[in-house]
Amino acid sequence: MNRVRAAVVPAAHDPWTREPAGWLADPYTTALATGQGPLYLRSREGGVVPLGVERWCAAPDAADRTVIARCEGTVLDIGCGPGRFVTALALAGYRTLGIDVSTAAVRRTVRYGGAALVRSVFEPLPREGRWNTALLVDGNIGIGGDPGALLARTADVVAPGGLLIAEVAEGDVDERLDVRVDDGRADRTRAGRGPAGQGRHRADDGGFFPWARLGARALLHHALATGRWSRQGTWELEGRTFMALRRKRECSVPSLPVPVPPRSG
Ligand SMILES: C[S@@+](CC[C@H](N)C(=O)[O-])C[C@H]1O[C@@H](n2cnc3c(N)ncnc32)[C@H](O)[C@@H]1O
Repeated sequence: MNRVRAAVVPAAHDPWTREPAGWLADPYTTALATGQGPLYLRSREGGVVPLGVERWCAAPDAADRTVIARCEGTVLDIGCGPGRFVTALALAGYRTLGIDVSTAAVRRTVRYGGAALVRSVFEPLPREGRWNTALLVDGNIGIGGDPGALLARTADVVAPGGLLIAEVAEGDVDERLDVRVDDGRADRTRAGRGPAGQGRHRADDGGFFPWARLGARALLHHALATGRWSRQGTWELEGRTFMALRRKRECSVPSLPVPVPPRSG
C-alpha cells in the first residue's frame, strides 16, 4: 500500500481560504479529546444541527461501510474529523489522505494510524486533480457555506472520471446558515448578535462561520450547475442518505486545421 505522509501543521488563517476558525473552538477540541458530545452547530437564530461526535470517534458503522465499499483508487476525505474513514480505508489498503482545519482532528486521525494534514479544502492540496475519490460525509457539503464553490473546488481536486461521495440532509433542504460550534454550555446571549451574513469568515464574530445544509435535490442541482459533475447514484441506510457524483471528463477542444497560406506567384 502506498501511504500518504501525515503532518500536523497549523492551517493558515487567511479568510479567503474560507477557513472557519469556529471549528478551532474549544468545544470541538474538547469533544474530540473525550470522544463525547453533546455538540451542535448553533445558528444565529438559535436553531441547532446536532454533531455526532461519538459516531465520528467510533469505528465505521453499517452506513459508513456503504461509503467505503464504493470508494475507488486514491481517496481524499475532506473535513476528515477524527478520521474514522481515513483509518478504515488505510487498513483496507486504500491510499487515503484526510484534510481538516482542526489540529485536534488531524492529531487524532494520525494517532489512529491515518494520514492527515491540517489544511483547508480551499488551500492548495497534495495530488490536486488526481484523487480518484473525494468524500464529503457527515454534512461536510456545508463546508464554506457555498455549496457551488465547494463542488467546483472538489472538481478541481478529483481526477477526470473520479468520484465524489457526499452525504445529504434529510428532506428537501437548501439552507445557508451562520453557525458556531456549541456544546450547550456556551453563553447563549452571543447567539442572537448581529444580522445573518454580517462579518462572514471573521474569526472574531462570536465564533460564527458560514455553513450550508442540503438535501439530495439541492445537492444535485448545485452539482449539475457547476457543469463538472454528473449523477452516479443515491442510496440510504439507517436514516442517512448519500449521493455519488462522477466528475466529467472535459471534452478536449478539437484543434482547428491550420489554414494553408495562398501560393505566391
Ligand atoms: C461536520 S464535521 C465532520 C466530521 C468528519 N467527517 C468525521 O468523520 O468525523 C466537519 C469537519 O470539517 C472540518 N472543516 C471545516 N471547514 C473545513 C475546511 N474549509 N477544510 C477542511 N476541513 C474543514 C471541521 O474541522 C470538522 O472536522
